[in-house]
Amino acid sequence: MFEVIDRDGLGRLGLLETRHGPVRTPALMPVVNPNKVLIPPAEMAQRFGAEVVITNAYILYTSKEQKDVDLHDHLGFPGPIMTDSGAFQQHVYGDVDVSNREIVEYQARIGSDLVTMLDVFSEPEHSQTRAAADVDETLRRAAEAVGVKAANAEPGFALVGAVQGGIHPEERTRCAQELSNLDVDIAAIGGVVPLMESYRFQDLVKVIVASKQGLRPRLPVHLFGAGHPMVFALAALLGCDLFDSASYAKYARAGRMMFVDGTRHAAELEFANCECPVCTQISPGELKGNERALAEHNLYVSFAEIRRVRQAIKAGELWELVERRCRAHPALLDGLKELRRHAQWLERFEPVSRHNALFYTGPETVYRPILYRFRQRLQERYSPPRRRTLVMFPEDGKPYMVHYRPAMEKVEAVCNAHFLVKSAFGPVPIELDEMYPNSQSLVPEQLDLEVLEASEVFARHFLAGAGYEFGVLWEGAATLTELEKRREDPNPLDWVLQRVRATSDMQFGRGAADALLAGQVELVRSKNTGRVRNVIVDGRHVLSMRAHDGLFSLRVEGGKVLHRAFPKPTLRVVVETETAEFNRLGKNVFAKFVREADPELRPRDEVLVVDQEDRLAAVGQAVLNPEEMVDFDRGVAVRVREGLPAS
Ligand code: GUN
Ligand code: ZN
Repeated sequence: MFEVIDRDGLGRLGLLETRHGPVRTPALMPVVNPNKVLIPPAEMAQRFGAEVVITNAYILYTSKEQKDVDLHDHLGFPGPIMTDSGAFQQHVYGDVDVSNREIVEYQARIGSDLVTMLDVFSEPEHSQTRAAADVDETLRRAAEAVGVKAANAEPGFALVGAVQGGIHPEERTRCAQELSNLDVDIAAIGGVVPLMESYRFQDLVKVIVASKQGLRPRLPVHLFGAGHPMVFALAALLGCDLFDSASYAKYARAGRMMFVDGTRHAAELEFANCECPVCTQISPGELKGNERALAEHNLYVSFAEIRRVRQAIKAGELWELVERRCRAHPALLDGLKELRRHAQWLERFEPVSRHNALFYTGPETVYRPILYRFRQRLQERYSPPRRRTLVMFPEDGKPYMVHYRPAMEKVEAVCNAHFLVKSAFGPVPIELDEMYPNSQSLVPEQLDLEVLEASEVFARHFLAGAGYEFGVLWEGAATLTELEKRREDPNPLDWVLQRVRATSDMQFGRGAADALLAGQVELVRSKNTGRVRNVIVDGRHVLSMRAHDGLFSLRVEGGKVLHRAFPKPTLRVVVETETAEFNRLGKNVFAKFVREADPELRPRDEVLVVDQEDRLAAVGQAVLNPEEMVDFDRGVAVRVREGLPAS
């Protein structure tokens, strides 16, 4: 019932099917009080763009006269409706007057589309022992709710299971893993409202990460009670697909206005500082005390932010949006800083490249998964050309090779050196200057001290294992004089070939260049730019270099070589043998037919599509990461570029 259409980081543009129509995600569900409707759901849909609303089944259930309603009639809303169970009332009042089974059956009876179990609200102050007990009981009830759904011949609803466990990562992950083994349709991360209310965003990040680490990727993830637009981008980046908000109404009642960078009292505003339809019509003076208008403002702002998050995912700019949002409040900045501790995990979901340039927004940028990956791969995949001397350039114009060409030529006239740029993000061998994101990134000239220090550490780390005998920092003429002492017969490197070699190894793994380039190599270059376009070996077109990210597209002839050179599972996406014939014809690989995938693959990696006998069927580009490919049963896993007809 959930399909991922596009993604950035763990953030995803998805489509959630319900009996009352589809919901695009990330989605915000405004909370509707079933007994006191402030803004009717139909208006929510028309004016604000709500595609789904949420209401509280426990409130309906306990108000005797309203009990046996048809939910869609009662709210006058033909679209998808989610219901909550009363777990939040348990948090507020300490207890509720209904059992899990009763409230789940009740939600099914009134025609809810997304039925929530009655989870045990795990408070942040619960000890690990207490949180473990909350998790045990939540899981028992989740299984019971699954039983209720299974007893229903035509359930027609999706079941929402909850992840509890307080602020204890082990409990969160355990709850998520065990919940994933049950037949629930959506996983909701609960118990987080107190964290958000007290601005404990670092703990919020820890909780979401620990929960996501246990959840199977195919499950849409709801973040209970996340209704402030400040957190949407951050939560979406961590893989939350659904949000619900009573905040718009609660804040309005208190005269408060929500913005993407915080909350302000209407009474404090001298000037209307918002471009929403409410604020452009009504002055702050009139707004104050106008609960309905304030609620509308809060909804406009919230839905605009959801659309911004969607667009950022589409454009590959979600990290930038999050980094900007997290500067709105020091507590959010702590949440952002927490992400670097999870770089290794986040990297597994990070696309290999994007359409847009990477922007430096502050010291945190240096720890983004894509940059962490580049540094990691330099250690694991890259082999520097054999040169005793290394000349290190400071970061300057881009592409580095073009900028530093005159200096390189001067050096090459006196000795045989390799060159590296000490960038803010870490060392960049000069021949990798066009590989994403080295050329496709923007860094300020004035760097933060923390970044200069980090850059130093990254460089030292790289040099320790690189095997140069002698390294100098380029300082112009003085450096040349020094290099004169090392005079050798000039034997400069073929930089075009070095680029092809280094990019191949970085992209496909160490040894790929040796395999791909074994034979008579012909490099076809662009007439305009002189850049490599196609790599032909023994008359066979094996690789094409993409202008926008400096990475190779794999051709079927190159695929054959890599298939021979690397054993299973390297670079493989294994599909059911009966379906491989479609891929041979050039049709995309659907996740449903993927059996296994190389754990080292990442979204947008070039892959080998093979059948269960490891026969190559096609080459293409991954849309999902390996865990997702294996878990999803909807959507495209690999976009096939070229099929290989059966021989
Ligand atoms: N609403 C806000 N938090 C929660 C939670 O933890 N569980 C449920 N069911 N609803 C909530
Ligand atoms: Zn406004």
